[in-house]
Amino acid sequence: MRYLKLTAFLLGACVALTNAIADIAIQNPDSRNAIILDGRWDTIIDPYENGYYNHRYEESDKGYFKNAKPANPSDLVEYDFARSPKLNVPGDWNTQDEKLFLYEGTIWYHRDFDIGKKTDQKYAIYFGAVNYHATVYLNGKKVDVHEGGFTPFQFDISEQVKSGVNSLVVKVDNHRERDQIPTVNTDWWNYGGITRSVKVLQYPKAHIQDYFVQLSKTEEGVLEGWVKVENFSKENADAQKVELRIPELNISQKIPLNKNGEAKFEIATKPILWSPESPKLYTVDLHYMQDVVHDKIGFRSIQVQGENILLNGKSVFLRGISIHEESPLHAGRAWSEEDARILLTWAKELGCNFVRLAHYPHSESMVRMADQMGLLVWSEIPVYWTVLFNNPTVYSKAENQLEEMISRDKNRASIIMWSMANETPNSPARLKFIGQLAQKARELDSTRLITAALDTQSDENGVKAIDDPLSSIVDVIGVNSYCGWYAATPGSCASLKWVSRYRKPVIMSEFGADALQGLHGDKAQRWTEEYQADVYNNNLAMIDNMSFLRGLSPWILKDFRSPRRPLPAVQDFWNRKGLLSDKGIKKKSWYILHDYYMKKAGD
Ligand code: GCU
Repeated sequence: MRYLKLTAFLLGACVALTNAIADIAIQNPDSRNAIILDGRWDTIIDPYENGYYNHRYEESDKGYFKNAKPANPSDLVEYDFARSPKLNVPGDWNTQDEKLFLYEGTIWYHRDFDIGKKTDQKYAIYFGAVNYHATVYLNGKKVDVHEGGFTPFQFDISEQVKSGVNSLVVKVDNHRERDQIPTVNTDWWNYGGITRSVKVLQYPKAHIQDYFVQLSKTEEGVLEGWVKVENFSKENADAQKVELRIPELNISQKIPLNKNGEAKFEIATKPILWSPESPKLYTVDLHYMQDVVHDKIGFRSIQVQGENILLNGKSVFLRGISIHEESPLHAGRAWSEEDARILLTWAKELGCNFVRLAHYPHSESMVRMADQMGLLVWSEIPVYWTVLFNNPTVYSKAENQLEEMISRDKNRASIIMWSMANETPNSPARLKFIGQLAQKARELDSTRLITAALDTQSDENGVKAIDDPLSSIVDVIGVNSYCGWYAATPGSCASLKWVSRYRKPVIMSEFGADALQGLHGDKAQRWTEEYQADVYNNNLAMIDNMSFLRGLSPWILKDFRSPRRPLPAVQDFWNRKGLLSDKGIKKKSWYILHDYYMKKAGD
């Protein structure tokens, strides 16, 4: 018998939670009326930030953001976007012009857009991602700034935007700083630019700001969640409720809103559960006054039980692969649906049911494609290596990126784990920093598992012991270990024993070796495909003896760009640990892992 428990939102924690999320972004911008601003933008390369500072190094009020034109022949204007080079948006600049391959600094972007402004509508400028620091100007005036290269942000431009032509200028700066997230050294390319889509969103003043719809963790056969409405109008009766519709489940419920425009619901229903084998997505529509939002959401449960990971109540082994966000179609950052489809099809072809999206939140196209194609996802913020763990400002940058990641993707069934960090050196400050991030993640989303990739294991008489104190904070322990590449010989790995002191699931989140595709020789010869294959054979034999292991995501699907890999004629600024070359050609190890997963899937 269907029952419906509709309760207005309790205040307190939920309000804090909602406010924290509400400050971040309109949920599901793809479902909103929008002007898409993707295409060719004017750009000015500005290594000395001359378009921002005057010669006294003070912020100038005549900067490039004014997009000034000489009013008469005697006027002095020393820039002109219209006659400057163009760059594609979305797209990193490094791979669009060889002069920019190694460029780190500021590039100014400009384009105009034309709208017919409506007084009953709100307008926001939305960026899928800008790496790393963005300063946004509209019609010559600063709107706001954003820091962080892999998460979406939007700014309300309802006041500043005007009917007719508007001039949008963005100062993008990708230079690295020690107090950033990530910090100055990473084993990936520092692709700068407006790397994901840009839109002008238009929506009613009274609108649906955010929502979370999921399977109850505690009650079998119950869908629960919440909706947050902005500019909630108390007068009119219709405005007191938001409507949730899931046609395939015969759900169409009007949910009362509390005085803050928040509603919570629990609805008895029995959806087909989402899984890699059956990635069932339901059309979920939310209606509030003139606002309608459409989403596609899968419903599943994910828990840990002892050393097991339970998907929909059944223990699952994660047959994974790590992926960096580089396009299989062109050089540089991936961002499109087509990029996502190809990368995840490669993962499926390999026999995967799981992908580790390293080391930062990938595009929304990627996680929505994982929902559609049926791949479980590890999603991660770039708290990578040795960030400044005792700096509160650095913590707030990490927390902000965590909030933006969870806010964007909390309705994606494919995502089962939020990863707080990768290979961070053990210290009290680091434990506190990551412990706080884990707590924040659990506050924002109590439904998913918390993990981190750890690379410090102790050696006890030849046995590798998982004993990083971070293991007691996470739900699932990720272990990065490069037996046969950075330590020991490939042949020694098969007999390497491991022990875990934690009754928790463990994932081998990285192992692997470099190989230049097409370079063949004896398996003792480093950089050959045979050497890499020997590392895989021996590590997989080792993994078979790790009884507490519940998954692996070897490093990595495809060769990727890294400034740390200069070896001429072998690396040439490529990290060669891919199972596929940078051209997508399979190496010997691809077949080894594929065969291993075929067997594993049959277990
Ligand atoms: C590290 C790190 C990766 C890096 C890899 C490597 O474990 O997590 O980002 O690319 O090893 O050295 O190739």
